[in-house]
Amino acid sequence: MHYFRRKGWEIAERHVTPESVFLNRRALLAGGAALGAGAILPHAAFAQAADPSASLYPAKLNDTYPAGRDVTPEKINAQYNNFYEFGLSKNIAKAAEALKVRPWTIKVDGMVEKPREIGIDDLIKSVTLEERIYRHRCVEAWSMVAPWTGFPLKSLVEMAKPLSGAKFVRFETFMDPKVAPEQRGFWPWPYVEGLTMAEATHDLAFMVTGAYGKPMAKSFGAPLRLHTPWKYGFKHIKSIVRVSFTDKRPETFWEQSGPREYGFWANVNPAVPHPRWSQATEEILGTGERQKTVLFNGYGEWVADLYKGLEKEPLYM
Ligand code: MTE
Repeated sequence: MHYFRRKGWEIAERHVTPESVFLNRRALLAGGAALGAGAILPHAAFAQAADPSASLYPAKLNDTYPAGRDVTPEKINAQYNNFYEFGLSKNIAKAAEALKVRPWTIKVDGMVEKPREIGIDDLIKSVTLEERIYRHRCVEAWSMVAPWTGFPLKSLVEMAKPLSGAKFVRFETFMDPKVAPEQRGFWPWPYVEGLTMAEATHDLAFMVTGAYGKPMAKSFGAPLRLHTPWKYGFKHIKSIVRVSFTDKRPETFWEQSGPREYGFWANVNPAVPHPRWSQATEEILGTGERQKTVLFNGYGEWVADLYKGLEKEPLYM
C-alpha cells in the first residue's frame, strides 16, 4: 500500500513549454504564457454552472500580504493542476468535472466541543468571503500567483471549538473511486494533510472557495481547499470533506507515499534540496522564466516565529 510511485511533477522538465505555444504576453496581462502540451481549456466551460454561492463573488480584496508578482493568467493556471484522484496529467480540468460538488458536507470532528456536519453553503454563509492574492510554490520547482477567494482557516477553527488538548488539524479529501479513477489504485487514499494548531490559526492559512473572482473550478479543489502560501503546494489539500482536531500528528498522504521525500512540515526553503532536485530556483508558470526561491516563499516575516524551538524537525521537506 505504501509503495512509492513516481509523481507527475517528477517527469523531468515536461512542463517546460515549447516556444511554439507561447501566448502573447501583453494579451495575458502580465506574466506571459508558456503552455504545456495540450490545448488551452475553455475554462469558463468548466466553471460551476449553478453554484448557489455565485452571487458572493467577487469578494473584497484583502491586501495585507502583497504577492509582489503578477497574477498568473487564469487560462494558464486552469490547465496546469495536480489533482491525482483524477489522473496524473496536469491537464485535469475535464476529468475533474466528474466530481459532484453539491450537495457537499464537511464533517468537523475529533477533539471538539461538539462534532458536527456542515453544508458548504451554510459554511460559506457563516463567514465573510475575501480575496487574497497568494504566491504558490510547488515542490516540483514551479510557481504561480492565484487570486483566491475564501476565509481564514482560523474562523473555521473558532467555529469548531477545539478542546484544549487538540494540537493538530487533520484534513481529508472525498473518497469516491467511482468518480475518481486513481482512487481505485494503490495509493493511500483518501488524500490527507495536516497542520499544527499554531499554523492553522495563523491569519495566512486560508480556506479557498473561489478563484479568479468566482466559485473555483473543480480542478482547483472545489468546493473547499486549503492554501498555506509559505508551504509547498502539496499541503494545499483539495475538495475537503472532513476537518478533525487531534492530539496526534496526522500522517499525510505524501508521508505515507514517499516518507523519504515528503514530510509533514513542507516549508519552502531554497537551501534544502529535494532528495532528487534542487529547490534553489523556480519556474514562473507560463513565462518560461526562472527566479530564485525565497525562504518560506517570501512569507517569513509573518510565519518564521511559528517554528522557533522546532529546529530539530525536518521543517523543509
Ligand atoms: N489535493 C488533493 N486532494 N489531491 C491532489 O492530488 N495535489 C496537491 C495539492 N492538493 C492534490 C491536492 C499538489 S501536489 C499541489 S502542487 C496542489 O494541490 C496543486 O494545486 P493547483 O492545481 O491549484 O495548482
